[in-house]
Amino acid sequence: MRKFPKEFLWGTAMSANQMEGSWDVDKKGMSVADIRPYNPNIDRSKVVEDLKMTKDKFESLLNDKVSFFPKRWGIDFYNTYIEDIKLLNDLGVKVFRTSIAWTRIFPIGDEKKPNQKGLNFYRKMFEECKKYNMEILVTMSHLETPIGLIKKYGGWKNKEVIKLFVNYSTAIMEEFKDIVKYWMPFNEFNHMDFDNTNVFDDDKEFYQNSYQAFHNQFVANAKTIEVGKNINKEFQFGTMIGHTLTYPETCKPIDQLMNQQQLNLSVYFYYDVMSKGEYPWYIKNHFKMMGLNINMTDSELKIIKNNTVDYLGFSYYATGIVGSSESLEVTGNNVMITGVNPYLDKTEWGWQIDSEGLGFILRDLYSRYNKPLFVAENGVACEEKNDNLSIIEDDYRIDYLNKHFEQMADAIDEGIEVIGYTLWTPIDLVSFSSQEMSKRYGVVYVDQDDMGNGTKKRIHKKSFKWLAKYYKESIK
Ligand code: BG6
Repeated sequence: MRKFPKEFLWGTAMSANQMEGSWDVDKKGMSVADIRPYNPNIDRSKVVEDLKMTKDKFESLLNDKVSFFPKRWGIDFYNTYIEDIKLLNDLGVKVFRTSIAWTRIFPIGDEKKPNQKGLNFYRKMFEECKKYNMEILVTMSHLETPIGLIKKYGGWKNKEVIKLFVNYSTAIMEEFKDIVKYWMPFNEFNHMDFDNTNVFDDDKEFYQNSYQAFHNQFVANAKTIEVGKNINKEFQFGTMIGHTLTYPETCKPIDQLMNQQQLNLSVYFYYDVMSKGEYPWYIKNHFKMMGLNINMTDSELKIIKNNTVDYLGFSYYATGIVGSSESLEVTGNNVMITGVNPYLDKTEWGWQIDSEGLGFILRDLYSRYNKPLFVAENGVACEEKNDNLSIIEDDYRIDYLNKHFEQMADAIDEGIEVIGYTLWTPIDLVSFSSQEMSKRYGVVYVDQDDMGNGTKKRIHKKSFKWLAKYYKESIK
């Protein structure tokens, strides 16, 4: 077993919309996550197609009384959080990353005052974590934009939403200033166009609106940091980027250039703005080539410049390849489709497993930005049938985690500041992209199927014991 620094934050990550359920309880409003239906015929390696949202699809989902919407029910964490947090403590978790559901605090999104019942729930839940001395890392918006803001304002492409988000972030930072230290304003910032429904796929000005929405979110992120540091100067703010590393398909120079452009546009752009506080040259050129004209004022750019993040958080699951050959075979990879790498194994969802890719990213990000790094999500999903509710022998998960931990340990030994790791996920929950329960990431099994049937009993998998030992004994 490798050794990690004493202060290293070993932990776990989950999100409100994938676990809490109770979607209409205690005045909670509807979020975009609540209108994602389960599709039993989904093509698992192309879930991104299923996520596409048009105006008509949005309207019909709002009125859909027939489909099953798994995220409305989650794994019932709203009612089981006491036992679930105890499980996290048994695992040895030092930091629990979770999101606050924006719609529990501001059900429509533009109310003047926060919903006290929502605040009360998180207060009780966080106090439960503190009972075990866990740090709490809050994601403020984990692909959970209120439907009210889409209907009334058209979502993030409208600058009004910046103000409404900052009202929300201020309310939760004020409320939890004594109990939460680590914050991530937006989950997988670079993937938000996939789930916020802010920009529909049939929008005439799709790219113009998407980049406008991203700009507005950059401003909201920076303003939140500005307000937060005034509330409590100890607060630590991080990015959260869905980091899909890609490699060039061949050593043809054109493949190298294509991959460079791919990485610039899909990941570095977001780190650059939030970490360096400036729009990089390649994105300005991209806007020019695409004929885009993003509305950004001098005062917004100043806010972005003056309020950068303290650490770089990212999720890491898989890698892909990019190349010029027309025959490039493709596969799913988080919410994108990339080329198949013949040297890597894939999960049942086509995600290509690549522990060395994590080592590459850690070295690359530290060289580029020189800021502490936080692996905010990492883990592997498998279909795990368990009709007789026994202990699942998930040696594949142990192997996956062990190899990724090796990479982190190597990077730390080389002098890279990696401050934490939060496993996705401690307990099985509803998949973000495919809405399935059978896409299981947990080290704890939940007796619940894709249609929400089951006792919801939690059962340790073999990896639970392995991970608890690792978390405990790896600390120097
Ligand atoms: C990230 C998200 O995309 O990856 C999580 O932040 C998500 O919410 C995780 O669950 C894994 O994706 P999926 O689609 O397999 O659940």
